[in-house]
Amino acid sequence: MRKHFSGPLGKSVVILGVAYLLLEFGIAYIPPLFGVDSGPIPDSVLLQYMVTVAIGILLWVSFNETLWEEFKAPLHAAMVEPRQRRTRVALIVLVPVLVGLMTFNSVRPSIAAPPSLRSIHPAPPGQIDFQGRSMELAGVENPLRSVGSPEEHYLEGRRVYYQNCLPCHGDGLAGRGHYAQGFNPGPASFQDVGTIAQLTESYVFWRVAKGGPGLPNEGAPWNSAMPAWEDFLTEDEIWSVILFMYEQAGHEPRTWEEEGEEH
Ligand code: HEC
Repeated sequence: MRKHFSGPLGKSVVILGVAYLLLEFGIAYIPPLFGVDSGPIPDSVLLQYMVTVAIGILLWVSFNETLWEEFKAPLHAAMVEPRQRRTRVALIVLVPVLVGLMTFNSVRPSIAAPPSLRSIHPAPPGQIDFQGRSMELAGVENPLRSVGSPEEHYLEGRRVYYQNCLPCHGDGLAGRGHYAQGFNPGPASFQDVGTIAQLTESYVFWRVAKGGPGLPNEGAPWNSAMPAWEDFLTEDEIWSVILFMYEQAGHEPRTWEEEGEEH
């Protein structure tokens, strides 16, 4: 038995074992001893390295005929020699059990928390605190639709949009601004029928005024980059940019009458 361990097969097993321990635990625990931050390596990388080590070992043991014979000898003996019956039986039991365990491990249900369900359009509050005063949202429509010239509001809204919203929501209002790639969730595409087209203007007002930070719990957890515009824009500026968005995207805002009829 001892001779087997000192032979090429025994050495190979030892090398594989040491390599595994070093990769699985060494990388995670040794550098921190010297003050270097490191973490465990991913399983897929571990597998790659182990395959590399195994190939290295195979190259070594197949280097010449004698070495190869020596490498194979213990395996061959375990398979056929009457003396080694016990080893054989042990292998016949152990190998399937190990494979079974590995399979079980890979299909066993994980106890990690389920992915959280987030609501993209959480229910809006009935009233909000806008720039220090309370503002009713329920039933409110865009006040700019009934005063002044629509053309002027549109131009004002366009200015506000291009000065503030463009970098994220993009030129075509399709959520593809220069910075859009950097955000997850990405900026909403107002072309999409799933955004402003199905919302009332007061809902949109709330979202623009309060942004990502103003999302209620059911809208979280998600790291929305949408700024809270009440800190930068006046009420009229927000209403005008909303007007511009609907006009530009070619959508009609959802109206309160429709909502009432549904109930
Ligand atoms: C820094 C990037 C950024 C800027 C600038 C930005 N937004 Fe957003 N916006 C987002 C992101 C990201 C989302 C999607 C996540 C969310 O709903 O909060 C979003 C969502 C929205 C929504 C919600 C759409 C829906 O379907 O609920 C509206 C409305 C909106 N933005 C309007 C605006 C307006 C108007 C401006 C300019 C005054 C603006 N945004 C500027 C990043 C931005």
